Amino acid sequence: MLYDAIILGAGGAGLLAAATAGQAGARVLVLDHADRPGRKILISGGGRCNFTNMGAAPECFLSGNPHFARSALSRYTQWDFLDLVERHGIAWHEKTLGQLFCDGSARQIVEMLLEECRMGGVEIRLGAEIGEIGHGDGRFRVAGAAARHLVIATGGPSIPKMGATGIAYDIARRFGLGVVTPRPALVPFRLGEAEAEFRALAGVAFPVAAQVNGARFEEAALFTHRGLSGPAILQVSSYWREGDPVTLTVLAGAAEKLRAAKRRMPRAHLKAALAEHLPSRLAEAMAARIGIAKELGNVPDAVLDRAAAELEHLALHPTGTEGYAKAEVTAGGIDTACLSSKTMGARGVPGLHAIGEAVDVTGWLGGYNFQWAWSSGHAAGRAI
Ligand code: FDA
Repeated sequence: MLYDAIILGAGGAGLLAAATAGQAGARVLVLDHADRPGRKILISGGGRCNFTNMGAAPECFLSGNPHFARSALSRYTQWDFLDLVERHGIAWHEKTLGQLFCDGSARQIVEMLLEECRMGGVEIRLGAEIGEIGHGDGRFRVAGAAARHLVIATGGPSIPKMGATGIAYDIARRFGLGVVTPRPALVPFRLGEAEAEFRALAGVAFPVAAQVNGARFEEAALFTHRGLSGPAILQVSSYWREGDPVTLTVLAGAAEKLRAAKRRMPRAHLKAALAEHLPSRLAEAMAARIGIAKELGNVPDAVLDRAAAELEHLALHPTGTEGYAKAEVTAGGIDTACLSSKTMGARGVPGLHAIGEAVDVTGWLGGYNFQWAWSSGHAAGRAI
């Protein structure tokens, strides 16, 4: 069977590309090995899908080429996607920090994309194995179908139990495209024996400024049985490389706060002063770590200042991350140097495109990764 485009992957990027191309008159086939489309959309945002972010901008994405995402993001913006959501009568709300969610269910986003595909006459084949890909005479051949365009939209390997695979990288390499070493991102950290005192705080959440390699995020952190999680931690994990410390500002303005406590409550111990600002279990652990035994009134200011430095720059040393099993996304991927930022087309392989998470563009937590799926999908869909 002859099509204009075969799209590999019925996730957010693949479905939006298919609908865009189909509605422009192209004959489009989507292949996916899953038994239903958009599985990651269905589980996203706690079942409500954080489908975009009002603040989406190129600076909110990591890539070997930080400018690569600019073109696609500017030609299909968060407002374009929101417009689509509203045209389908899907009620939405801003939760926090520009993050837009469905009022109802993530299922509405999948149904919307499928309806858009139906409007474009797109054929979707589920339970389909990709198998060998043939290429010759300007055509790609997959699973008994042929087309002038082949779109790699199979995402990255994060959450393999949902059917995620690294097939995008195999296909890219088969056509001579580079792959930036993939790694789990938006992922919790593990802490080792040397920092086991913090694992004992499992369940304690607290506001923090977390920093890794110059990236800084102010949001909640959460201690877990194995280490550290929470939005601020997931955000910095995308910037983390093995061996890097993660620096936490556990108590901002700690020096002034401790000196004030010393004046106000000279008979109290450090733990009591910290408990005014931190969850009590964390206050206890930090006081034990700092190790000031005296009442605050007897502690020299210089010693208090050293304690404050520990509270403002607590350096933790993850032994690793929770890996792809727990990573919300995969950083790295098909090298943007091999792709056109306008069409997502592969340089040197006419008709081949790569979009979405398969590409070396990774968004922050908060709707940015779906926006990249929509924007890059739209760019490829327009080029078919
Ligand atoms: P995606 O992974 O969605 O789709 C790829 C498709 O290819 C899948 O349908 C898969 O079955 C198919 N496929 C893979 N290998 C194949 C093979 N070998 N053969 C055939 N088909 C194959 N982002 C965000 O912006 N807001 C949010 O709220 C969330 N929440 C969230 C929660 C959780 C738990 C996860 C794991 C992830 C998120 N994300 C998110 C990230 C977001 O889900 C992700 O970035 C996009 O789904 C990527 O879209 P793609 O279409 O590129 O890949």
